[in-house]
Amino acid sequence: MDVIVRENYNEMSKYAAKLIAELVKSKPNCVLGLATGSTPIGTYKELIGMHKEGLDFSSVKTFNLDEYLGVGIDLKKPYNQDQSYARFMYEELFKHVNIKKENTHVPDGLAIEPEKHCQWYEEEIKRAGGIDLQLLGIGGDGHWAFNEPGSSLSSRTRVEALNKQTLDDNYESFYKKAGIKKEEMPHFAITMGIGTILESRHALMIANGKKKAEVVAKALEGAITSQITSSAIQLHPGKTTVVLDEEAAAKLKNIEHYKHVEGLKEEYKL
Ligand code: GLP
Repeated sequence: MDVIVRENYNEMSKYAAKLIAELVKSKPNCVLGLATGSTPIGTYKELIGMHKEGLDFSSVKTFNLDEYLGVGIDLKKPYNQDQSYARFMYEELFKHVNIKKENTHVPDGLAIEPEKHCQWYEEEIKRAGGIDLQLLGIGGDGHWAFNEPGSSLSSRTRVEALNKQTLDDNYESFYKKAGIKKEEMPHFAITMGIGTILESRHALMIANGKKKAEVVAKALEGAITSQITSSAIQLHPGKTTVVLDEEAAAKLKNIEHYKHVEGLKEEYKL
């Protein structure tokens, strides 16, 4: 696992976007796993900037990690649901680049049979050849996607109940602004499983800010536990990169080692 620490949010975002852009250039038909939340917005902004300078998304396929249940895309009025992650992706990335709508996938929060839709989503990822690079944030309770504490570390795409901390965090950052009452926000979501995420060929986790320092340290250096589902990063068999700003890295014990490894890799161009 490579742990890269950058001075601030902008530098973190630039580093993560550069890794994604390198993949898009070397494999124009790559499959990207994408994330929502405030953390990846800067990374998406960087990618939009690179697209203006020629980065081509026309053959890229994407699969998003998750979607609230009960909101999503009304097929008659695409992206009309303001609080959906589908809408978020459209606003923050898709509408600004030349990605084909049919190549983008966000779990359908309006699926009539959500469990069947989850199976279809898994199959669709396989049909696309699997995920080349999965971008990940980390929730305040240590979740990846919406794999809440107690989720099996080999779980697949499924419906998951949101826990109290997630409801509180996501209400503050997403629903409150829209004037939606707390009891009206969705309490369930469709989420890729930890097992699904671990199959990605490259896992790229990003985190910033003081609020994330403790949970990042637990995930990267603590016990592997279903109570902090992002600790499964320690089990990821493929390439694994964690990009943090200094505040989010503040509670890591092995920081000197990570810097040493980064220096060596730069020197030997690995
Ligand atoms: C939500 C998403 C996660 C994301 C988390 C963190 O719960 N389902 O995928 O990592 O928010 O959000 P933020 O980046 O705003 O801290």
